[in-house]
Amino acid sequence: MNSNFSRTLVTTALPYANGPVHLGHLAGVYLPADIYVRFKRMKGENIIHVGGSDEHGVPITITADREGITPRDVVDRYHRQNMDAFERCGISFDYYGRTSSKVHFDTAQEFFRDINGKGIFVKKKESHFFDPETKRFLSDRYVTGTCPVCNYPEANGDQCEACGTHLSPRELINPKSKLSDESPELRETLHWYFPLGRFQDRLENYVDSHVGDWRANVLNYTGTWLKQGLNDRAITRDLHWGIPVPVEGDEAKGKVLYVWFDAVLGYISFTREWAEKQGAPDLWREYWQSSDCRIVNFIGKDNVVFHTLMFPAILMAWNEGRTSGIYSLADNVPASEFMNFEGRKFSKSRNYAVYLGEFLDKFPADTLRYSIAMNYPENKDSDFSWFDFQNRTNGELADTLGNFIKRSVDFTNAKFEGEIPYECTEEDWAAPGIDWTASFEKLDQAYEQFHFREAAALTMQIARSANRFLTESEPWKVLKTDRQAAARAVALSVNLCYTLALAWYPVIPHTSNRIYAMLGFEESLDDAIKNGTVSWNMARFPQLHKGHKLCRKSEILFAKIEDGDIAPELEKIERLLEEVKRKEEEEANEETEVRPEISFDDFLKVDLRVATVIACEKVKKTDKLLKLRLKVGSESRQVLAGIAQSYSPDSIIGKNVILVANLAERKIRGELSQGMILAVEGNDGMLNLVEVSGSGVNGKNVQ
Ligand code: 2FM
Ligand code: ZN
Repeated sequence: MNSNFSRTLVTTALPYANGPVHLGHLAGVYLPADIYVRFKRMKGENIIHVGGSDEHGVPITITADREGITPRDVVDRYHRQNMDAFERCGISFDYYGRTSSKVHFDTAQEFFRDINGKGIFVKKKESHFFDPETKRFLSDRYVTGTCPVCNYPEANGDQCEACGTHLSPRELINPKSKLSDESPELRETLHWYFPLGRFQDRLENYVDSHVGDWRANVLNYTGTWLKQGLNDRAITRDLHWGIPVPVEGDEAKGKVLYVWFDAVLGYISFTREWAEKQGAPDLWREYWQSSDCRIVNFIGKDNVVFHTLMFPAILMAWNEGRTSGIYSLADNVPASEFMNFEGRKFSKSRNYAVYLGEFLDKFPADTLRYSIAMNYPENKDSDFSWFDFQNRTNGELADTLGNFIKRSVDFTNAKFEGEIPYECTEEDWAAPGIDWTASFEKLDQAYEQFHFREAAALTMQIARSANRFLTESEPWKVLKTDRQAAARAVALSVNLCYTLALAWYPVIPHTSNRIYAMLGFEESLDDAIKNGTVSWNMARFPQLHKGHKLCRKSEILFAKIEDGDIAPELEKIERLLEEVKRKEEEEANEETEVRPEISFDDFLKVDLRVATVIACEKVKKTDKLLKLRLKVGSESRQVLAGIAQSYSPDSIIGKNVILVANLAERKIRGELSQGMILAVEGNDGMLNLVEVSGSGVNGKNVQ
């Protein structure tokens, strides 16, 4: 990493304006970014945080169709809702835009035109499903049918929800249009592809140059793609909602840019809009087109390759042949793992989530920010639970931090007329037993390296030391015999309050502002930081001198969370879990219901044979599929089976399995599958192959 940057641009993944953001989003992307940005602002660095709504994509049109409203209505609703929730949570964007803006349309189209003009895109004619009833091409999500891997009857055209296999609509058995329920037909259509492979070497160099400073998960996901070799990616769609493909004539009619092509460019558009708002329309170039600026993209792990491969490749394509106006690539892409909720994955489709806005209607933002910071899913998935939230709020925020601040301020107000009675010396400052140099070095490093859980824990340690110091110095007792000693303890404690106000600012800024006000400052801490009156390094030394006056009021910083406060939440989870379980059981039962009767002759049509697995490997770019080579009598067959989560390739070689031998061949993930093997799903979700024991059974009919 080049440490000579003089500016930082932080971007956060643009949430789809297709639903409210939930705690998982907050934990993975927005809170860590905000903590980082606030820390840097306090350091007096030039940093801006740009984000906004991702307002395109098929799920938005599906929501609109379902609710009988327009896509515009959908994005207006969620853009407002999400922006408002972020604001209440203290996520301090410098700019929060939306990809439906004119500036963004212009930016995305400008990129497309430029790259198209250089002849970089590849145009391909291909057959896509078309709904003759509604006269619309059907994007993957608009097609449903039976999953070829697990037979789930309502698989989506892009993925089967039941077994997780990524699919293409043409792999579905009995595909249907979600718009009309009719069988779609195939029609030829033209699309523009981005040839990622053309940038393979440059992308490898880019990624290699960050080995050591990027997180392991980011390097792993990206490395897997690079190793497999990069392919052409379609960047246009036949859709009416989105940014029109800017190509004259009929060939681009009714086509829009693929949402991911436009979304990543949103970061640039929004920086432009921010610059305009500053009254300096060209200022955005100092962030995007200057080697002086460090760009950091905060994202979740599901967005990695779009940011480490796709977006950089788009910028490389733009930069090709240019000597000026060259875009910089991100210096870091801190991707989080997921935060689960009470031990289960957040799931919008199953309605298993806690939405940020709803949470903030019940509990204060800082209690949430703190809990989440302490559970930040940095290297592995973490969990949010109501009990943990209650314990942290009560035991750490209220009993330790809040209690210390209130006791210090109240005692000073009561016994010293709200005035600092003593001038702390350097020697005094060591009394609370805090190694200031070491603590702040560690804190600085934790923030710089995105270890936010560690930063919050270190700050809580300072609060604990402060609280212990006050308890042990007992100024309320000492006062009676030694006023000077009590004055010293008070002066130190109030200075520690000041330190804590500053040190906590990145994580719990609302609380920091309140402490700062109690300490007698009229200007808010936010403003003091903005104006440079206060900076990070001031937290390490006593700043409040003898004679400094507090505001003479104190408040309880954190109300305790009673069992009764979270009881409705726990009940709600029980309900949600029951609902999720019910749905899961329903799905499982659907599969076990006895199918309609068939005749014996029909049954005899199915040719079941014993086959022996002689070779097996994973299918590239899939999590679930294994490719099996089977020996069936004198014949050899290739069969794809969605069992990779249950069996490793090596473990099934030599097994005798049952093959549906006369099933029509089909292609799955571009690979030929000549039949199906039988398996049973257990309650644990694992698949168990039906095996045959005994010798000399290979190739025999099952009867
Ligand atoms: O996964 C998502 O929610 C996407 N809307 C993220 C887009 S990030 C960036 F490209 F804008
Ligand atoms: Zn499936």
